[in-house]
Amino acid sequence: MSVRPEGTAPVVNSYTEWDPLEEVVVGSLVGGVFPTWQESMAPTLPHDSVRIFREQGGTPLPAEHAAAAEEELSQFAAAMEARGIKVVRPDFADQTKRFGTPEWESGGNSSGMPRDLLIVVGDTIVETPMSWRCRKHEVDAFRGLIKSYFRRGGGWLAAPQPELTQALFDGDFDEETETGYAITEFEPVFDAADFMRFGDDLVVQRSHVTNEFGIEWMRRALGSRFRVHQVPVNDPHAMHIDATMVPLAPGKLLVNPDRYVPHPLFRDWEILEAPKPALGPDWPMYFCSPWLSMNVLSLDEKTVVVERQERPLLDALTDWGFTCVPVDFRHVYSFGGSFHCATLDVRRRGRGGTYLSV
Ligand code: ALA
Repeated sequence: MSVRPEGTAPVVNSYTEWDPLEEVVVGSLVGGVFPTWQESMAPTLPHDSVRIFREQGGTPLPAEHAAAAEEELSQFAAAMEARGIKVVRPDFADQTKRFGTPEWESGGNSSGMPRDLLIVVGDTIVETPMSWRCRKHEVDAFRGLIKSYFRRGGGWLAAPQPELTQALFDGDFDEETETGYAITEFEPVFDAADFMRFGDDLVVQRSHVTNEFGIEWMRRALGSRFRVHQVPVNDPHAMHIDATMVPLAPGKLLVNPDRYVPHPLFRDWEILEAPKPALGPDWPMYFCSPWLSMNVLSLDEKTVVVERQERPLLDALTDWGFTCVPVDFRHVYSFGGSFHCATLDVRRRGRGGTYLSV
């Protein structure tokens, strides 16, 4: 996929979630709006957001809280730079602009969570086909970066553009029994954050934004070097696997005790159940559950960035042998992610390999 002059280091190179981090994209919430409502969001969202997105979709995020979140993102970026990690940021995108297709129209979302829409597999950045209509143009704020990486030899692979017509959203999710999915198999869709990278193996969950068709597209697009394993999770609200399982080092998997389903792939791995999140019930959470506590970012196989107020997790990871880098991030939580969601690790050292029991 990539082309680069002999003897030069790759600009895009990331096979795992734990190899030493050299370059990272940190998202930005500037210009962000509440998502334009669509029914397939319902199973994934905190209860109040259904009303908020219905009533306020397309309007700017609450200014003071979003500014505090942006300040946290900047402080986090500065902390990464202070450790010698190169940080890049997206371009500004005015998410209040509406857009559409012959079938539908929508407002935008934000540029805060690059993990959801892009995934680096080896030397290639993959653009995903997202199923939330409001996210259709989210990648535009990152295009300048992607083009720049491509010009410098990085690989670039974009999934087929989904139509996102009603046929995709006639899913079989049953509110009462909390079974089924909000989306159908009409066309391939997936969010990058439903995948986790383990060298030559990727683990993926089916979710309310990722269908089997999308998983199969990814499997074939990545080619024979990479193996894509679909794993079951105990999460009727599934959207993004990075608050369900996060590998921190070879053989060390942090899991959500409510959602993780033991799997033979991890037969030889130590499993740590994340302690309950420290966040109280009154903190505004428009997109996610407080389990964002475990949405941590590894800087290498010994060092993890953790939210400063997640004391139980900080203690558990320290006891497990990790050095934790505490960073304030609760305002960012409110808008849909923590350190893993809000970043894209474009370059880590490491060349892949087999870490799972395959
Ligand atoms: N959707 C996941 C959660 O809310 C990230 O925990």
